[in-house]
Amino acid sequence: MAKTSGKSRVSLVAEREVLNRTLLNWAAVFSRDLPWRTTRDPWSVLVSEVMLQQTQVSRVQPKYLEFLNLWPTPEHLADSELSDLLVFWVGLGYPRRARNLHRAARQIRDLHSGTVPSTFSDLMELPGVGPYTARAVMVFAFEMKVGVVDTNVGRLLARWSGGALQPRTAQQLADALVSPDDPWLWNQALFDLGALVCTRKNPKCFQCPVASCCSWSGAGSDPASDSAGVTKKQSKFQGSDRQARGKLIQRLAVGPVALVEASAVMGLPDEANRSDRLVQDLYSEGLITIQDGFLLLGDSLQ
Ligand code: ADE
Repeated sequence: MAKTSGKSRVSLVAEREVLNRTLLNWAAVFSRDLPWRTTRDPWSVLVSEVMLQQTQVSRVQPKYLEFLNLWPTPEHLADSELSDLLVFWVGLGYPRRARNLHRAARQIRDLHSGTVPSTFSDLMELPGVGPYTARAVMVFAFEMKVGVVDTNVGRLLARWSGGALQPRTAQQLADALVSPDDPWLWNQALFDLGALVCTRKNPKCFQCPVASCCSWSGAGSDPASDSAGVTKKQSKFQGSDRQARGKLIQRLAVGPVALVEASAVMGLPDEANRSDRLVQDLYSEGLITIQDGFLLLGDSLQ
């Protein structure tokens, strides 16, 4: 196996038992109390993971419980209107996730008798579910022995192994390190370590329970900087298309908007071309409908 620098991945895997024991003990004391951790219900797990894809834990927490009150099963969501979900989703951002979740719920109702599937290939067929979310459902709902690599975990793995990792290598390493005794807690513990200790900036290596297994330990350049799954800096929100789209969606959550008003609502009164393009995009993505000169939230394929 190729060794970039620091500890080889082989020797890291050889330390798996120590890593597992130490980190699981640490998690027993320090793990965060988050609402989606008290359930193994696959629908609840899927919902939480879709929300967490692009939104911070603190913003997801209240919305997650509210969502499950409204749509406790895939069938509840499948039988509802997309526009209701889009109204609910305001504040979470990236409304395509909501549209995908709505489509996934219908697929689960129609192809899986209302039960969230448990295999990687079936999960990957669901709209909005990629390899990360499929694995997250497999481990957090079905307690299967797979590793989940999000931004935080990608960073930990790169630092432990002392070199930048390609996505496939990061996934292989994550899978090889999973605790066979408690895959669920192991993966949650990695999230917690990444969120609380092995942070992107100013990591608290002096508090790290597994510092002795780490190749980096905060000294020298950070191996995670160029590594897989480590997010690039988010592009500026102010003045972005995303901001303009968000303004329109937020306003549409209150009621229809005349097409001629769309550019003003988006804060683009002097950018007709850009405004037209954004409206067209939202329409093509199935997030809005155009009817009699008015824009409405939701698709027309109810
Ligand atoms: N991010 C994605 N999934 C998570 C989880 N289960 N706990 C905390 N953060 C997460």
